[in-house]
Amino acid sequence: MISPGLIFFLSFLCHVTIAGRTCPKPNDLPFAKVVPLKTSYEPGEEILYSCLPGYVSRGGMRRFTCPLSGFWPINTLKCIPRVCPFAGILENGAVRYTTFEYPNTISFSCKTGFYLDGADSAKCTEEGKWSPDLPVCAPITCPPPSIPKFAELSVYKPLAGNNTLYGDNAVLKCLPQYAMFGNDTITCTAHGNWTELPECREVKCPFPSRPDNGFVNYPAKEVLYYKDKATYGCHDTFVLDGPEEVECNKFGLWSAQPSCKASCKVSVKKATVLYEGERVKFQEKFKNGMLHGQKVSFFCKNKEKKCSYTEEAQCLDGTFEIPKCFKEHSSLAFWKTDASDVKPCEADAQIQK
Ligand SMILES: *[C@@H]1O[C@H](CO)[C@@H](O)[C@H](O)[C@H]1NC(C)=O
Ligand SMILES: *[C@@H]1O[C@H](CO)[C@@H](O)[C@H](O)[C@H]1NC(C)=O
Ligand SMILES: *[C@@H]1O[C@H](CO)[C@@H](O)[C@H](O)[C@H]1NC(C)=O
Repeated sequence: MISPGLIFFLSFLCHVTIAGRTCPKPNDLPFAKVVPLKTSYEPGEEILYSCLPGYVSRGGMRRFTCPLSGFWPINTLKCIPRVCPFAGILENGAVRYTTFEYPNTISFSCKTGFYLDGADSAKCTEEGKWSPDLPVCAPITCPPPSIPKFAELSVYKPLAGNNTLYGDNAVLKCLPQYAMFGNDTITCTAHGNWTELPECREVKCPFPSRPDNGFVNYPAKEVLYYKDKATYGCHDTFVLDGPEEVECNKFGLWSAQPSCKASCKVSVKKATVLYEGERVKFQEKFKNGMLHGQKVSFFCKNKEKKCSYTEEAQCLDGTFEIPKCFKEHSSLAFWKTDASDVKPCEADAQIQK
């Protein structure tokens, strides 16, 4: 008797030896695909490993046949990324990258004064090429500046081709009679344009008015403009308060309005005073009066302390006030000591010496 178990065993053995075992789903390989991909293969079935786009194969076989043993042979195939051409240097700029392999992206920047002519990043493609093309750093330039009305360039040194490099300056000036509002110096900016242009405006000044007791001279023209000048003077005994020459400024005003100030008549008959640090006889020095602005110091007595001090007085437009403390002695009172001969009180000691 043959047992049914034995029959089953024999038929199984027969099946294995004739039909062999099936192969399982092949191992995954990084960046590769398998064709055809199934969960099991009959012995004799072929599979093909190929690298995914952007990767290239290295080493090992690509084609395998499912053997009777049902075990796929050891696969030594490797798929490695394609490498794009070296792009680590950008003249006048910098490249940021980790590697130049697919599918990495690298990025670019330019140093100050240069701009990216092209894209700011590029990707290593499946074909191992940069896309888009690598950029260059081109120098930033400004076109010739537009000249404001009533202005001209006074300093301008463009490159060949009439452009100016980033950071360079040009200087503008206004035509005569026009005043500048804004900065005369313009700079080529990183945007490739110039900093704000100044404005030139026509500026007129009114005719200057004649000062009382004096005169003013100015150009014999119908209109007085920016930078025109006028000169002032005063009649005898009058003194000019202000500059002799004034100029029409850019706000349409004269730089100053001088006037003529009267001199002072003086009634003191006898006094020793300090004038510009010197002791002088007042009645002699100022016998023709004092001019506006002149100052003298009178000596006064401090009766309690028996010393002298000084007090200042100034001629201001015809008015001169003698200090109240000053006592004029009659020339007959010869026994009286004049304040200027009394020893100075301490605070004044320096001045009198
Ligand atoms: C530069 O400017 C000059 C004068 O305006 C002009 O004659 C010349 O053609 C310009 N050159 C270029 C390259 O544009
Ligand atoms: C005028 O512009 C120049 C450069 O453009 C700058 O250096 C200067 O300080 C400016 N002057 C004034 C008064 O703003
Ligand atoms: C220069 O160009 C920049 C950017 O376009 C702009 O913001 C700026 O106002 C321009 N400057 C002048 C003075 O026009």
